[in-house]
Amino acid sequence: MRNTVIFGNWKMNKNKKETLDFIKEVDKLVAKTNTVAGIGVPFIYLDEARKQAKNVNIIAQNCHFEASGAYTGEISIDMLKDINIDTVIIGHSERREYFNDTDADIAKKVKKLIDNNLTPVLCCGETLSQYENKETIAVVKKQLLENLSLIEKNNVEKVIIAYEPIWAIGTGKTATAEIAQNVCKEIRNIISENFGAKIADKVIIQYGGSVKPNNIAELISQPDIDGALVGGASLDPKSFLELL
Ligand code: PGA
Repeated sequence: MRNTVIFGNWKMNKNKKETLDFIKEVDKLVAKTNTVAGIGVPFIYLDEARKQAKNVNIIAQNCHFEASGAYTGEISIDMLKDINIDTVIIGHSERREYFNDTDADIAKKVKKLIDNNLTPVLCCGETLSQYENKETIAVVKKQLLENLSLIEKNNVEKVIIAYEPIWAIGTGKTATAEIAQNVCKEIRNIISENFGAKIADKVIIQYGGSVKPNNIAELISQPDIDGALVGGASLDPKSFLELL
């Protein structure tokens, strides 16, 4: 049985007080759910958020693949480990689009995270035109095979995969549960064909893109959708708790 894993991705939102108030409000209640819950808070609040949170996982939104060095503005995996962060979102479409994170960069991040015993939340997904041209599976397959190419087969089950169609992110357009399930099933097939059926059976696959309290139940009741990566609807504590 795979766990249900629901992560919020706050992106570049909230100040320190709002971050800590949110954790205060949700943390105890998170313990009462059967869901593995986490929130991706901005880098500068990670340390305090991590210290305050007892039940909700505090996760990072990115990292650099080098251990240290002349990379102005970047955060290393060692720095994240130093403040007890164990999960990192990587390859989000906004990172790919606005900050030029390439598939090769993302592959290095996956490898370094796994080498350091951290969990990558690896995002993949197609643009609207790729969706309309029926290229979804080819695009996602290329991303995943390249992004997972540097790690040992057996470690693939340690990666959480988040399928996020770009046309559904922040647009209010959710992929229907049927579309999301079909792609997540294909992703599991891709993992099975390339890394083995046992690993495919264990790997957690989240769906992301305009997930809200009113559509999450149908999405995560699909056999190949094990949770969600949620942007907008994770910013309000009541909405986040409803999602869980
Ligand atoms: P959204 O964002 O829920 O606001 O569409 C999802 C994401 O970017 O992870």
